[in-house]
Amino acid sequence: MFSAVSGVPVWGILLLGIGHSWAQQRNRNVLLIIADDAGFETEVYNNTAIRTPHLNELSKRSVIFRNAFSSVSSCSPSRSAILTGLPQHQNGMYGLHQSVHHFNSFDSVRSLPLLLRQSHIKTGRLVYLSLSLCFLRPFFLYVAFHDPHRCGHSHPEYGPFCEKFGNGESGMGRIPDWQPQRYTPDQVKVPPFVPDTPASRIDLAAQYTTISRLDQGIGLVLKELREAGRANNTLVIYSSDNGIPFPNGRTNLYRAGIAEPMLVHSPEHTGRWGQVSQSYVSLLDITPTVLDWFSIPYPAYSLFGKEPVVQLTGRSLLPALDAEQPWSTVFASQSHHEITMYYPMRAMHHHQYRLIHNMHFKMPFPIDQDFYLSPTFQDLLNRTESGLPTHWEKSLREYYYRERWELFDTQQDPLETRNLASDPSYTDLLETMKGHLRKWQWVTSDPWVCAPDGVLEDQGPYKLHPECRPLYNDL
Ligand SMILES: *[C@@H]1O[C@H](CO)[C@@H](O)[C@H](O)[C@H]1NC(C)=O
Ligand SMILES: *[C@@H]1O[C@H](CO)[C@@H](O)[C@H](O)[C@H]1NC(C)=O
Ligand SMILES: *[C@@H]1O[C@H](CO)[C@@H](O)[C@H](O)[C@H]1NC(C)=O
Repeated sequence: MFSAVSGVPVWGILLLGIGHSWAQQRNRNVLLIIADDAGFETEVYNNTAIRTPHLNELSKRSVIFRNAFSSVSSCSPSRSAILTGLPQHQNGMYGLHQSVHHFNSFDSVRSLPLLLRQSHIKTGRLVYLSLSLCFLRPFFLYVAFHDPHRCGHSHPEYGPFCEKFGNGESGMGRIPDWQPQRYTPDQVKVPPFVPDTPASRIDLAAQYTTISRLDQGIGLVLKELREAGRANNTLVIYSSDNGIPFPNGRTNLYRAGIAEPMLVHSPEHTGRWGQVSQSYVSLLDITPTVLDWFSIPYPAYSLFGKEPVVQLTGRSLLPALDAEQPWSTVFASQSHHEITMYYPMRAMHHHQYRLIHNMHFKMPFPIDQDFYLSPTFQDLLNRTESGLPTHWEKSLREYYYRERWELFDTQQDPLETRNLASDPSYTDLLETMKGHLRKWQWVTSDPWVCAPDGVLEDQGPYKLHPECRPLYNDL
């Protein structure tokens, strides 16, 4: 069955079989599905233009989170945060792992696979095997679909979104389990943060096609789970790593860059199946959730012998499967995407307010290679250059040059275009949120905690009491 899943580019499928532990007695498993650059283009989130029957089926047996957020808007950093429960600035995966620059998390980080292994859990890799072979023992299975990532800049023959990959056209190969689903530009729903132009509609139609492949792949994995008799003791989590690869999306800490679809299905918590939760949850919550499901204690240890001791700042989502929770705050942190894309930002979303700290706000916001060549961005560049209407809510210049502090009321201003940071009536809120953000930075050992107007001193005389020492750089 795995031809669709292994035939499409897959980031990695990691299988951890659980040995002799209490987990085996209770016979619980976890299936974690993380799509690549997927957003809310599903029927689950009320997009009526697209068909995603398998995600729909899953959502009827899941709590559907409306306010789930990535802690970082970049693929490998996000995946490292998912699998460690630590933000990128703490786990060391400051940018993309791919290609020659290969950022990595620190060797001493205690990741989810390591923690599960320490609880007598075996680890392994599954790529071409039938899943049922591996379902003999309790497991943690991480399935990372490459759909719907762009591929136009590396494999233009497959289309901007790989939408032609495996569709049976000559030169594209064939994925037998995938029935390509095509969309026309007039069918798509253009997200409000994307310019509504013929070019972006063509782009979105291609994206929808790869979402149909994602959906069918998810259907195959879930079918395999059922046929292996593991459907009713497996926690299934579906989400994505970062926002969709469109303007304001991936690589940004705006809502469009970090809001994620998130379905959590527990066969043991049926009371809220099909319900929508408004609670704020983070992808940093996945590690605590999995540990909680397996009743494994959260790790507490020191990285590099430093204080403070590493602690997970996320929380288990299992209580939200029983009852709505009052959770209303999430944090995010970005350093790089590609190696050249250094643009450190920290953010906090609290109730309806989002605060973003753009530390290097005097630099233009950087643009990544595949997004640069996307039809949507090329069209935006062309229109800007030739003075044509962009049909976008901001100008390219505004997109590149940001204020140091951005504060948005996402209820009044869902598109986050009105920065309230310099509005005197928000001074108290701004200062309170800055304080909470900075506190989270200290708790998570953020090397950038003093930037851009100070230098962190935490050695020698400052070892016991780290301090931000002033730079007097007029910021
Ligand atoms: C979809 O729309 C319905 C009807 O307005 C609403 O009740 C539901 O919460 C929406 N679902 C999501 C995931 O936002
Ligand atoms: C598990 O699934 C089987 C087959 O679908 C069903 O007969 C059984 O009642 C389920 N058990 C529980 C605890 O839900
Ligand atoms: C942008 O302009 C270039 C040069 O005129 C042209 O080749 C390209 O097709 C245009 N791209 C889009 C998306 O309009």
